[in-house]
Amino acid sequence: MDHYDQIPGWFDFADIYDHITARARDGAVFVEVGAYLGRSTVYLASCIKQSGKRIRLYAVDLWDGWIYDDCRPDTTRPETEDVFHQFIDNVRRAGVEEVIYPLKMSSEQAADLFEDGTLDFVFLDADHAYEAVRRDLEAWFPKVKRRGVLGGHDYLHAAFPGVRSAADEFFREQALPLQVLGTSFLAIKPSPRWLNASLRVYRRLIPASDKRATNQLATDKHRTEINNSYIDLSR
Ligand SMILES: C[S@@+](CC[C@H](N)C(=O)[O-])C[C@H]1O[C@@H](n2cnc3c(N)ncnc32)[C@H](O)[C@@H]1O
Repeated sequence: MDHYDQIPGWFDFADIYDHITARARDGAVFVEVGAYLGRSTVYLASCIKQSGKRIRLYAVDLWDGWIYDDCRPDTTRPETEDVFHQFIDNVRRAGVEEVIYPLKMSSEQAADLFEDGTLDFVFLDADHAYEAVRRDLEAWFPKVKRRGVLGGHDYLHAAFPGVRSAADEFFREQALPLQVLGTSFLAIKPSPRWLNASLRVYRRLIPASDKRATNQLATDKHRTEINNSYIDLSR
């Protein structure tokens, strides 16, 4: 795991990737949306390789030279198609090319390539604007299988309030709790039986006419746990 930290980027969610890889079954399929130069991707691919499990990792990115508004001055800023070539070089240098399947396209186009209910893990780290995160959640959540995990970066980052608004709103509508680890969020897709029961109770508790009660109960229901060391994967 010594190659990834030489790659410029934004990656502080190694514990999530460790944990997800450790619990994954042989033959699992992972997707990372937003790979940039491959810092996080190479880390996850190295975990997968080390685990000895046959896990496929799709890395989705436009790789179009997109630049962050808040790009730190000390972070490399390739300006054009170079980003993609640098990503490929970084993957090769780390010796993890057999694990990674790059998809050079938009997040939504990539999501369309997968059947519903087929992915074990999707992690969103692409465009952090509210509308984009909302779109990503809508595109990728159906693709995750039950007991699979959908997560995303920068939920708690002050510079990206849209991530938190979109995730809170989306998972409140799904009546699903979020967990927060570090600065990232995670949600586990429950079994259909659990989801239906939960939605039934939720709707019974919340009369559509009582807007204030709706918001309050929805907030209670959606209580977010800030916890750096715990992912409850037992559901
Ligand atoms: C924060 S960077 C990813 C950082 C990376 N995970 C790391 O470890 O450094 C965000 C990436 O998302 C990509 N991106 C932005 N909008 C996208 C979209 N709509 N579809 C696919 N990729 C997108 C950008 O090209 C950029 O490389």
